[in-house]
Amino acid sequence: VGARPQFIKAAVVARAFAARDDVREVLVHTGQHYDENMSGVFFKELGIPAPAVHLGVGSGSHGAQTGRMLEALEHEMRTRRPDLVLIYGDTNSTLAGALAAAKLGIPVAHVEAGLRSFNRAMPEEINRIVADRLSDLLFTPTDAADEHLRHEGISSDQITRVGDVMFDAVLHESSTTAKTIVTRLALEDRPFCLATIHRAENTDDPARLSAILGALGTLSGELPVVLPLHPRTRAAMQRDRLADHGHPELRLIEPLSYGEMAALEAAARVIVTDSGGVQKEAFFHGVPCVTVRTETEWTELVDGGYNHLASPLDAGAIADAVLRAVTRGRFTPPNLYGDGRAGERIVAAIVAFLDGRASRES
Ligand code: UD1
Ligand code: UDP
Repeated sequence: VGARPQFIKAAVVARAFAARDDVREVLVHTGQHYDENMSGVFFKELGIPAPAVHLGVGSGSHGAQTGRMLEALEHEMRTRRPDLVLIYGDTNSTLAGALAAAKLGIPVAHVEAGLRSFNRAMPEEINRIVADRLSDLLFTPTDAADEHLRHEGISSDQITRVGDVMFDAVLHESSTTAKTIVTRLALEDRPFCLATIHRAENTDDPARLSAILGALGTLSGELPVVLPLHPRTRAAMQRDRLADHGHPELRLIEPLSYGEMAALEAAARVIVTDSGGVQKEAFFHGVPCVTVRTETEWTELVDGGYNHLASPLDAGAIADAVLRAVTRGRFTPPNLYGDGRAGERIVAAIVAFLDGRASRES
């Protein structure tokens, strides 16, 4: 693991590992995310075991960052000789983990397999395709994910539908202290919009970032807009001089802990995001969502009318979509992502795979 969403997913699976005595998990942190509020806070709040090793690779271009991870992971895998390497999601840490293990002949298991945006301009799409291709066990959250994998020629024997570990995470979240964030922001009795923006295609394009921030600024005339800023977005706003739009109710704040984020999501009237995880969390909390992207991997949310896509280049379209979502209001989410036991199923499937291999070898 190395990036924020991976800590949240790994927390779920680490709990399931900890509940068994026939398998041992050794956590490796690549260091892709390193700020306290992008990494350390999740380990503390979610009780994730301290990583056995921290590779400290930090930031860099895709090639440089992935290359540093690859070299360090190869060394760790050679030294520790794991029976299997488990990877999560679609970040550069995922890609490096898959490549290092596959080259050493170590079986790979991928959590959140089969997601596709069909947009190869996204670095995550490249990472997912390669990670799935190199994986022996593919743990999928949805029908659509299974379908994508089968379409790519991956054998059904390798695919296990487990549900979404992020649904497990939401059900497990019970921090009461984190809920004080709503009071601290003086939002208990006010409808508000929660927003997150960090995707490279939005932050690296000044026209898109400016349209998105313009839309959020306009919306803040209607209701407060809380925007916990990913460091990538903060840096882009400084670079493009987009920081000061003069909207007092557009509240730019530091990244939040998982519990604080969950509390704000649950209390929000509407959520605007380009995050994969936040789109689903909006749904889990029954809050309408507008996704500022041209496509999404979580198509069932759009098909069900819970999430709406809005062009990141069109400030007016974003603001209109958000105001329509506010009018539609909250909903009771149906069960699209499993039963909250994805973590247990993942660990059970790993143990069965390793047992099967051991008996074939003996
Ligand atoms: C990465 C993932 C993305 C995921 C996101 C989750 C890749 C290619 N992208 O994007 O899929 O949705 O994490 O948040 O793996 N930075 C800091 N402090 C930190 C971390 C990052 O200041 O602790 C800044 C640095 O300027 C860095 C930039 O953010 O260059 C981008 O970080 P990086 O990890 O490369 O990609 P993310 O945009 O975070
Ligand atoms: N998140 C958080 N604090 C924040 C913003 C997001 O804890 O300030 C959580 C969010 O609740 C979700 C996860 O981070 O569980 C999503 O990660 P992110 O948006 O960084 O990446 P993505 O899911 O797009 O890969």
